[in-house]
Amino acid sequence: MKTNKKSPTETNGRAKLSVVSTAKAVAKTQDHRKPVPLNQRKLNFGDKWNYAPAPEDNKHIKIAPRHELFIDGKFVEPSTGKYFDSVNPATEEKLTEIAFAGQSDVDVAVKAARRAYDKVWGKMPGRERGKYLYRIARIIQEKSRELAILETMDGGKTIKESRDVDLPLVAAHFFYHAGWADKLQYAFPGRNPQPLGVVGQIIPWNFPLLMAAWKIAPALACGNTIVIKPAETTSITAMRLAQIFQEAELPEGVVNIVTGAGETGAAIVNHPDVNKIAFTGSTDVGKLIAKSVAGTGKKLTLELGGKAANIIFNDAPIDQAVEGIISGIYFNQGHVCCAGSRLLVQERVFLTVIRKLRDRIQTLRVGNPLDKNTDIGAINSKPQLEKIRELVQSGVDEGAELVQPACELPQKGYWYPPSFLTGVTASHRVAQEEIFGPVLSVMTFRTPEEAVERANNTPYGLSAGVWTDKGSKIFKIVNKLRAGVVWANTYNKFDPTSPFGGYKESGFGREGGLQGLAAYLKFS
Ligand code: NAI
Ligand code: MG
Repeated sequence: MKTNKKSPTETNGRAKLSVVSTAKAVAKTQDHRKPVPLNQRKLNFGDKWNYAPAPEDNKHIKIAPRHELFIDGKFVEPSTGKYFDSVNPATEEKLTEIAFAGQSDVDVAVKAARRAYDKVWGKMPGRERGKYLYRIARIIQEKSRELAILETMDGGKTIKESRDVDLPLVAAHFFYHAGWADKLQYAFPGRNPQPLGVVGQIIPWNFPLLMAAWKIAPALACGNTIVIKPAETTSITAMRLAQIFQEAELPEGVVNIVTGAGETGAAIVNHPDVNKIAFTGSTDVGKLIAKSVAGTGKKLTLELGGKAANIIFNDAPIDQAVEGIISGIYFNQGHVCCAGSRLLVQERVFLTVIRKLRDRIQTLRVGNPLDKNTDIGAINSKPQLEKIRELVQSGVDEGAELVQPACELPQKGYWYPPSFLTGVTASHRVAQEEIFGPVLSVMTFRTPEEAVERANNTPYGLSAGVWTDKGSKIFKIVNKLRAGVVWANTYNKFDPTSPFGGYKESGFGREGGLQGLAAYLKFS
């Protein structure tokens, strides 16, 4: 265990932790026949407990050297003639070249989407649209393994997560929305729901396929046509999705996929013939988009950053809570807008929680994301790694204590070990800004009122977690938290039926559930 200065708890002037953490220490305790205090007992496997490598086989995965744009049902070269590399962040190997769409490509894509809307998709009965969505969902399930491997190779997330979380949810979103396509008038009785027209969608790199599904499935179910842009570092699976649309014989122009950078996204946002913009990404870009869209009559939904509080009360089931803290912040390398990145622990259980957390992060396996036993994969890109490092350094400079396990990181690729910072105060940058990496900022509180105040003390309002064994406390606290999603005694649970979205600088509008459908409809 490498700690900055002293161990986190020693420095708080509180009781010193005596953690039995080595085989030698256990043996010594046993020699003296002194029982280990209950609260310090833990399984200790020493170096006997090691996993053999279990890499997912990716030899059969073929990645074309170049990926073109997907416009009007066909793969076409970009008018710019430019391409950019997509690398595997775990190896720094170039995987392929991605087309860079310029303004004129976006224009062609929007025109194709408009034609498809006017001639085919906007007029098609819901029951027919639903059949396409069911077909797409089933093909995604069939190709799930291949898509999961590609997602892991292109973005760095662990195969365990892309296989068991991302892909099942991607299919679930298409299935769920397929079911609504012919039932919109029952979803909104008496309100005559109608599609908006052409929608522009811009998505980030942390859940590439899942964010594509969150955006595409409801828009199609409601009868809209689409121009969507994946993020620069993770376009490969979106282009695989384009092949799936072809296989499903989705009519030409219904979904157009334009790859590129921020300026490509801006061209979609500023296109006069787009009726709605749906964006997920950083708060800074969200603000820019809100400014551009203001006064144009375009509908807008923004799903932006977060700095969620995960609140642990004295009466919480501590072992489960520690697992919830772990999945809350280390899931997907912490590249999660709703990550539980601020841990608020009630003072009486602070030492216990910190000790268990410190033990637990030592067991997390960092490394090859294609290995089925890996818990923490690669950081998505070099700039993101630099951002994490810079913010953590600011925390240390401002007086926080950094705790990291002593783990060996691979030589190549972008890596950051699971970490937490104690001694964080509300004014520290690490308590206010989104780190978007596997780094947790830990703070304490005394009373439920203080917990609520601290939890809400952020410009964001996307999500939160509450851990207590009192149901009444859950309801009391949840009602006072200014967060779009609050999990109680669990964390990071997602379902297409459940609306997701934020308050304040986390954006507005909801995705998923009926609220998510309403965002792609107009009513008369
Ligand atoms: P970003 O907001 O720049 O990128 C998200 C998407 O927006 C990408 O597809 C990008 O090409 C596009 N984009 C960029 N500039 C645009 C513009 N002017 N107009 C239209 N589209 C534009 O996020 P970035 O730079 O990749 O990450 C920076 C930070 O943002 C991260 O460290 C993290 O804190 C936060 N972030 C939050 C996400 C979330 O899910 N809430 C997702 C991604 C990043
Ligand atoms: Mg990549």
